[in-house]
Amino acid sequence: MRMYDIINKKKHGEHFTKEEIQFWVEGYNRGQIPDYQVSALLMAICFQGMNEEETLALTLAMRDSGEVLDLSKITGIKVDKHSTGGVGDKTSLVLTPMIAALGIPVAKMSGRGLGHTGGTIDKLECFPGFTTELSEAQFYENVNQIKMAIMSQTANLAPADQKLYALRDVTATVDQISLIAASIMSKKLAANADAIVLDVKTGNGAFMKSEEDAFALAREMVRIGQNAGKQISAVITDMDQPLGAAVGNSLEVKEAILALNGLGPKDFMEVVYGLGTELVLAAGKAEHPEAAKELLRGTIQSKSALHKFAEFVKAQGGNMDLVYQPELLPVGRIQLQVLNTEVGYVSRILAEEIGLASLVLGGGRITKESKIDLSVGVLLNKKRGDRVQPGETLATVFANDMEKAKEAYGRVVRAYQFQDEPMVEIPMIKGIVR
Ligand code: URA
Repeated sequence: MRMYDIINKKKHGEHFTKEEIQFWVEGYNRGQIPDYQVSALLMAICFQGMNEEETLALTLAMRDSGEVLDLSKITGIKVDKHSTGGVGDKTSLVLTPMIAALGIPVAKMSGRGLGHTGGTIDKLECFPGFTTELSEAQFYENVNQIKMAIMSQTANLAPADQKLYALRDVTATVDQISLIAASIMSKKLAANADAIVLDVKTGNGAFMKSEEDAFALAREMVRIGQNAGKQISAVITDMDQPLGAAVGNSLEVKEAILALNGLGPKDFMEVVYGLGTELVLAAGKAEHPEAAKELLRGTIQSKSALHKFAEFVKAQGGNMDLVYQPELLPVGRIQLQVLNTEVGYVSRILAEEIGLASLVLGGGRITKESKIDLSVGVLLNKKRGDRVQPGETLATVFANDMEKAKEAYGRVVRAYQFQDEPMVEIPMIKGIVR
């Protein structure tokens, strides 16, 4: 087989065989095929696309380029949840302890944030001592004992995807739906839970700006999961404004703790319950969505999810006292209030601008190596649909550097849009693909 012929084939819109896909994925992973040939191939895929069989073969080849976890050491139906990335998305912090509190084992691999979206691991590191660098044995033991563990993605999990993603990032070939679906699913399949729920975000702050693209991505991922023998569903959720009020690591952790105490923002809880329902149904703990929701509500009312979260923080080395005293979490020294000058209703809050505001404050990572400031971010005092009067606070910027605070302030001002008429409430859940 020659790489030249494979590139040429795709250039002319033909389909790869499974063997051809294995050839170039394995060859690239082993360093036997150069970047320039794979770059040309990726660009050809962007123009010509891939069919269902090709996308599945690519996913499985990337999954098999490294280790596939053996979760058979954990008893029960293991569940995993994945988000395509959003601004203010602290869903995992609340949802995973709710699910674990119901006795459903959550074996989750997470990543760090990059760009304007945050990552679960960074947020959890707000608890001094917390680590996601667990050995596999520790990971299995924690899930068996307390029903949840979150581990950082190891270098040996779908390494071909890691190499290809880095190449796509610099060759303008990230935004092709089959490539995204295969990339995400290769890691989920290597993490190997029995049931997977995907949160596919759509809107200004998301990868998928249009609902049409979000549904297309969701359908491709669900198809891959089903073909690989997984129980899988995807929930398409709104990311046209940040989720909840808090954006920035410690601010989001505080909001998550409020949510575990029954005080979560409405939009955020709608997403938590939407995803949670899918997980509870997949684990066979309830027969229909209402019953699943009822079980989930019970974990908040009884505080069992809050206590589970504290137990989890402790099991992974963190200071669990902060779960009960979130006021001790770090906050930026400088607090700037963004004051409103309009009369009307908030019609939109560009999530990407708010994510970028948090990034310039130091709350996010520009490169993989950046060190982040956990204490900075933006708290939204007004959300979509809220009526506003001049002089009211729209949002508060938390910073440790005045220059950065001013830049973030400008971004927050640009993010808010208004209209004269009251808004019709926009549902957070746009649809479910099963
Ligand atoms: N996230 C991934 O893991 N892969 C992609 O291709 C895009 C988003």
